Amino acid sequence: MKNIKRIFALVLALALCVTCFAGCGKGDTLVMGTNASFPPYEFVDDNGNIVGIDAEIAQAIADKLGYKLEIRDMEFDSLLTAVESKSIDFALAGMTVTDERLLQVNFSDTYATGVQVIIVKEGSDIATADDLSGKVIGVQSGTTGDIYCTDDFGQDNVKQYANGALAVAALMNGQVDCVVIDNEPAKNYVKANAGLKILETEYVTEDYAAAFSKDNTDLLNKFNAALKELKDEGKIDEIINKYIPAE
Ligand code: ARG
Repeated sequence: MKNIKRIFALVLALALCVTCFAGCGKGDTLVMGTNASFPPYEFVDDNGNIVGIDAEIAQAIADKLGYKLEIRDMEFDSLLTAVESKSIDFALAGMTVTDERLLQVNFSDTYATGVQVIIVKEGSDIATADDLSGKVIGVQSGTTGDIYCTDDFGQDNVKQYANGALAVAALMNGQVDCVVIDNEPAKNYVKANAGLKILETEYVTEDYAAAFSKDNTDLLNKFNAALKELKDEGKIDEIINKYIPAE
């Protein structure tokens, strides 16, 4: 009898904990989804923390709005579905605003621009985007680099990798002839791997923004208001300059 009472009390306590967790968590924590292999926007530091421009901007916005911030690392491919299903509150991942994505999610105001660039090995015969036809192009799966290259050069010429680092490793191994990726991560990858260079020609310029569920315009509006304040205060520039030193 005693045991049954004890078990009952334990179950009750557990149930209370779980309710509080679910309830409290939702109320005061914003869950951001990202893909943390995209330096300087998001990457994992030596202590295993997700850091970078997006992480700091999200933290500054959460602070302004009075939320805690939780950052979840996931496949870039899965971010929009996670936003739609509301398993995350928003995605911030150096994500480009595109018409197609706008059919699925709402985007915040933009906070940065990116340029798709081409990374090749020193001495490559690829000099401009026009030289890409017939070459094997490495991309991060589901990114704009992937979408544009598939459209322009055909599925057969594009090899998809789970992240930019793997695409660059494939270039180093000679499995692909070039990698098309956003310029700032490209600079980081080239710095980390001797014998690579970024072509002068820029492929496509784009705007980065945070993605929200179409049902959550309330949070989108709050996010935009906080973002505007941070821009006016010079805080966004400060964060970007910290990770992207002027050349
Ligand atoms: N800007 C590109 C896009 O939206 C690439 C973004 C990749 N971001 C990342 N965190 N891995 O498709």
